[in-house]
Amino acid sequence: MKAIDVVQLILKERFGAKPLHDEATAFAPANIALCKYWGKRDEALNLPVTSSLSISLNNQGATTNIRLQKHRDEVTLNGELQSLDTVFSQRLLRFLDLFREGCDLHFKVDAQSDMPVGAGLASSACGFAALVLALNQLFGWGLCERELSILARLGSGSASRSLWDGFVKWHAGNRSDGMDSFAEHLPYEWPSLCVGLCVLFKQQKSISSREAMKRTVQTSPFYAAWKPTADQDLLCLEQAIQSQDFELLGSTAESNALAMHALILSSRPPILYSQCETVTAMHTVWHLRAQGLPVYFTQDAGANLKLLFLKDASNAIRQAFPEVEMIEPFG
Ligand code: PMV
Repeated sequence: MKAIDVVQLILKERFGAKPLHDEATAFAPANIALCKYWGKRDEALNLPVTSSLSISLNNQGATTNIRLQKHRDEVTLNGELQSLDTVFSQRLLRFLDLFREGCDLHFKVDAQSDMPVGAGLASSACGFAALVLALNQLFGWGLCERELSILARLGSGSASRSLWDGFVKWHAGNRSDGMDSFAEHLPYEWPSLCVGLCVLFKQQKSISSREAMKRTVQTSPFYAAWKPTADQDLLCLEQAIQSQDFELLGSTAESNALAMHALILSSRPPILYSQCETVTAMHTVWHLRAQGLPVYFTQDAGANLKLLFLKDASNAIRQAFPEVEMIEPFG
């Protein structure tokens, strides 16, 4: 099945209809996976091998404005006009093509991202989620959250989780059309929980998560261990969230991220997202923990770390990581 077939299934008679408005704007928060999505069972539809669970970063994310244009597409990122043949523009335009099949439609897309793009900081997740929300307004589709999550997934898997605040679970599903692979909000609040963004490297990663995921699935001798590991971690995280057990949440998220990076490193040829600064920061976290400070980290497909801690540890974290950007997901 192709992505466009899924779009048709969701939009039904609205597929191919003209937009209701000339422009629309939407915001979506970035999300950080505590139990990672790593590996697809279907490349074209971004269907995952495992379910995953994330926390959204409150008002840090992407705001996208989309407006109709007369003759040609135009893309700006943080106010800068982008050439249409960059990887960024191409990915975006290919996604827009799903919604203008057979129509002579051109768009100007203005994307504002609070997160550095392509640095393993969830920029594509919030970017595609904001775009889907803006398209839903522009065309007046009136889709429900589940349908929006499925459409966002077609842009980037992790985007399926960027439509809500707080904790979000993405169900892997097992249907080949992916209609049971969508995210949903988990109704738990944890006001003292903090996420610290340690931006150690703003440069674009050398290999995309899409490429790295594929290589891991195809070549890591350990990939078979990922599904049972992630399934178990997901259960622990749900239990940790329900009982507000921070040690369980932090230790599970950290081990899950390290297991994912161990898989990635064992791909052939190998991929190592960490830089020296990443490893130094990991040792700092472990050192703080050995001294009794409850702090953990998680890491996505890039060199940057995200710290997990409770509000009363903020001062100590700030001392150890002066540059950290602190976010209160429920603040
Ligand atoms: O959605 P993608 O293709 O950007 O992949 C995201 C992969 C990770 O960020 C490493 C894990 C996750 O679940 O967000």
